[in-house]
Amino acid sequence: MPLCPECGKKIKPGVRICPECGTRIIIALGISTSPRIKLAGESNSKRILKRVIDQLQKKGAETTLIDLNELRIFYCGGHYSLGPRECYYPCRRMEEEPSDQLLQVYEAIFKSDIVIFATPIRWGNYCALMQCLIERMNCIENMDSVFGVKMLKDKIAGVVIIGHEDGYQRSAGTLMSTLSFMGFQLPANAICYFVGPSDELTNQDFKRMKESEALESSIKDLVESTYELALRLKKRG
Ligand SMILES: Cc1cc2nc3c(=O)[nH]c(=O)nc-3n(C[C@H](O)[C@H](O)[C@H](O)COP(=O)(O)O)c2cc1C
Repeated sequence: MPLCPECGKKIKPGVRICPECGTRIIIALGISTSPRIKLAGESNSKRILKRVIDQLQKKGAETTLIDLNELRIFYCGGHYSLGPRECYYPCRRMEEEPSDQLLQVYEAIFKSDIVIFATPIRWGNYCALMQCLIERMNCIENMDSVFGVKMLKDKIAGVVIIGHEDGYQRSAGTLMSTLSFMGFQLPANAICYFVGPSDELTNQDFKRMKESEALESSIKDLVESTYELALRLKKRG
């Protein structure tokens, strides 16, 4: 059950403002971007994301998890390349492709205080679906850099990066700098990650993750750093 960040009162799910003291609760969103299909088993990065989101809920946040792989998302059409003022929010792809389902993701981001992006590592970087989301968020970044409208003011981002053996620093470096350019606030240690030893035993990944103290501690760091910053930004108003 969400908790009021000011007076600690339990708030009914769906209620955003504390009836006791009028404070708005913290809202956290997880976005899973693993393109892994069900036939290939459960996504490891999504399973870890669920744990992060569960812990944010225990802290008192109202939480939602979106699996991008379950939605129909079109690639960025590249209007920005036609000229800076051609790319703006709402993304023109939604009008051009009425079956595109990214609107619900944009809207969930806008109403959240904390957004946690989860991706597997694929060939040394974050996955293609994560990249597709980043490109589709170009319109949000452009609203600030070209039109002067800050759509992500005081929103906090964190990342979950899960691989098998190599590439988390590169994936995290690129992803976190991009999220910062978008306008998100990134607190210290806003990253939870796992890579295992150099072998081909990908079927052992989840078992190894469950035994990893480093992963456990990075989940805790990610949850605490994002939630604490959300509280501080809320107090600042
Ligand atoms: C096409 C492909 C490329 C991969 N490349 C890497 C890589 O470069 N480094 C790595 O550590 N793991 C790599 N992996 C392993 C995945 O990151 C790993 O299995 C991860 O747990 C999958 O997460 P998911 O289940 O959320 O998709 C790759 C997996 C696939 C399918």
